Amino acid sequence: MRSRIPLKNWLLTFALIAAAFMLMGQNVLASDMEEDLKLRTNLEKRISELSKSKKLRKQMVKEGRERTILCKTCHGEDGIAIQPLAPNLAGQNPVYIVDQFQRFGDGRRNDYLMSNLAKTFSIEDKIKIALYYSDMEMKPSGGGNAELLPEGAKIYQESCVKCHGENGRGQEGYARLAGQRHDYVVKMLKEFRDRTGKRTNVWMSGVAIRLTDRDMDAVATYLANLN
Ligand code: HEC
Ligand code: HEC
Repeated sequence: MRSRIPLKNWLLTFALIAAAFMLMGQNVLASDMEEDLKLRTNLEKRISELSKSKKLRKQMVKEGRERTILCKTCHGEDGIAIQPLAPNLAGQNPVYIVDQFQRFGDGRRNDYLMSNLAKTFSIEDKIKIALYYSDMEMKPSGGGNAELLPEGAKIYQESCVKCHGENGRGQEGYARLAGQRHDYVVKMLKEFRDRTGKRTNVWMSGVAIRLTDRDMDAVATYLANLN
């Protein structure tokens, strides 16, 4: 006859293994976040070093502009996108722009055209382009589902402010979201949540996994109308 002790032991062993896996998972998460933070801080330093003087910055913006002839066909003359599903770049955080450009280039983010394009620019070019776009004025795209606005505002305040800022303008290298296009925001949130492989980020996947399609519609509506 079986005694009860082995069963208890089994349960204990199982619990210990589960706890170990949870800790391991958290460590992976923590190191990913640390890496992310380090990258952004380094980029921030590099950008501020390269654009130390006003004159130098102006020159960089001018050169950035010269490199965006192709970009305009999708991201618009004034950084407001004219192609469906392309994001607005006007007023976007320059650290974020360079970071995403790098991700397209090394395969951490995937989009057929953007990935190929990113490989043709040096880091200096990317910084110049980022400064050029970040100087532009963002005009909210509007649209979305107006009746979901209050719901969207609530979700934003509860779940997004910590990283994307009170006013949605981005901070410390995080993306500016205020004014971004509704359909693009929804598409990105789904990619983070459903882990399509096009775009992965432990932080955003952790946030997006808790959002329903309706939540995404609501928060995207709020952001598209936020100045
Ligand atoms: C044919 C259209 C097209 C052209 C041309 C194009 N882009 Fe894009 N761009 C897109 C699309 C679509 C996305 C969103 C990709 C995705 O779904 O991940 C994007 C994303 C980006 C992003 C990420 C922005 C964010 O908010 O995450 C940056 C930065 C960017 N493009 C910069 C550029 C620059 C700079 C150029 C010119 C050198 C350029 N793009 C040319 C269509 C285009
Ligand atoms: C813990 C920090 C954190 C929180 C909280 C957070 N985000 Fe993010 N978000 C990020 C990071 C980091 C990125 C850049 C991801 C990458 O590099 O691909 C990002 C990117 C995004 C993007 C893509 C922007 C673009 O231009 O492509 C969207 C959209 C977004 N977040 C929406 C949200 C929404 C909506 C919420 C709240 C429901 C939220 N985020 C909460 C950290 C956060």
